[in-house]
Amino acid sequence: MKENWKIETQAVQGSYTPKPTEPRIPAICQSTTFKYSSADHVAKLFDLDLADHMYSRISNPTNEALEGKIALLEGGVGALATSSGQAAISGAILNICQTGQHIVTASTLYGGTYSLFANTFPKMGIEVTFVDPEADMIELRKAFRPETRCLFGETIGNPNLNVLDFAKFSTLAKEMDVPLLIDNTFATPYLCKPLEHGADIVVHSTTKYFDGHATSLGGIIVDGGIFNWNNGKFPELTEADPSYHGLKYSEKFGSAAYIVKARVQYMRDLGCCAAPQNSFLIDHGLTTLPLRMERHSSNAQAMAEYLEQHPAVSRVNYPGLKSHLSHSLASKYLPKGCSGVMTFEIKGGQEAGKKFMEACQLIALVIHVADARSGVLHPASTTHRQLSAEQQRSAGVDPGMIRISIGIEHVDDLIADVDQALIISQS
Ligand SMILES: Cc1ncc(COP(=O)(O)O)c(C=O)c1O
Repeated sequence: MKENWKIETQAVQGSYTPKPTEPRIPAICQSTTFKYSSADHVAKLFDLDLADHMYSRISNPTNEALEGKIALLEGGVGALATSSGQAAISGAILNICQTGQHIVTASTLYGGTYSLFANTFPKMGIEVTFVDPEADMIELRKAFRPETRCLFGETIGNPNLNVLDFAKFSTLAKEMDVPLLIDNTFATPYLCKPLEHGADIVVHSTTKYFDGHATSLGGIIVDGGIFNWNNGKFPELTEADPSYHGLKYSEKFGSAAYIVKARVQYMRDLGCCAAPQNSFLIDHGLTTLPLRMERHSSNAQAMAEYLEQHPAVSRVNYPGLKSHLSHSLASKYLPKGCSGVMTFEIKGGQEAGKKFMEACQLIALVIHVADARSGVLHPASTTHRQLSAEQQRSAGVDPGMIRISIGIEHVDDLIADVDQALIISQS
């Protein structure tokens, strides 16, 4: 029944349902451990014959409330909360990919993800091929190898802001018989639900719009439950796991095999679990997600239109603008708005950009995006600083580019702040 609710209702009441006299909102369960009445009960938990809580690294009631809500919002069969977005991305891939294997990814990525794929995964023996998401199918097919285990992309690239062509990417993933993994952090399920457009697994940095108030690090992996793991490529899901006395995840857990394995094997062993206090705050943030995404998107649209006609601005990059390369994809996949992040270039290059950022008063110079408060940043010298000039180009980061994360303040005040800072930038 909850599946039929509108997303506004799901975001408020979609998971935790208290019984009479129980707390109205999910309590923060700080306990790492849980009590049982019999040794048999505990043995059943360890054999995965029961799904009760065992130890908070593997599951915890507060994390569970958040996981249930996000699985519902994205339309998945289950979810696993992690300590950060980076932990969700690495975990989502390492759950099905190991040394000697390979992944294909759109090159337009958040800097931390780019670095994980370009530097850390290769050190672990996982090779990564970066593809231009605008390339045609013939070109994209060339990136795949027999040992390729997934295709990865961001719904809205950070900070390139290209909108992923889901039809093309999901067709490609199906053709290659590998799952499509999508980082839906910038869009959120309010603006786009990748599982409805052919994705198989969705990840988020819940640190961003889900929290929405810059209070808590977190990440999540959502399993669509659609991908057929019995295609010979994923023995870790279809063949016996010696660490569970020969249990086969796909046989025992069916469509939830991937997310159960992520929890009981990957999380058990790697341990990058969510902190219950953070899950509590992120769940709070989620209750207003639809309202905030509406305001972030309408504010950003107005700001982009204002900047586009400003004489001190040479280029504005926001998929809601008709001039944007991804505008038709945005109309198709983001009909309710294009989220709150945009980039632009000021006349006068990097020096003018520096003056602009330092002159902003309401919009703060911060690393973070997706907060209720507006922020500004220079990606080339910060989030994407560790990338080479060529890697920055492939991620869509220009040297003079400024990124603004538009908050939910009144748009008139935000435009007034940008207006005065633009005047100073040109002086
Ligand atoms: C699109 C995207 N994915 C993943 C991450 C990483 O998330 P976290 O900082 O929570 O580890 C970020 C961080 O900015 C991001 O913007």
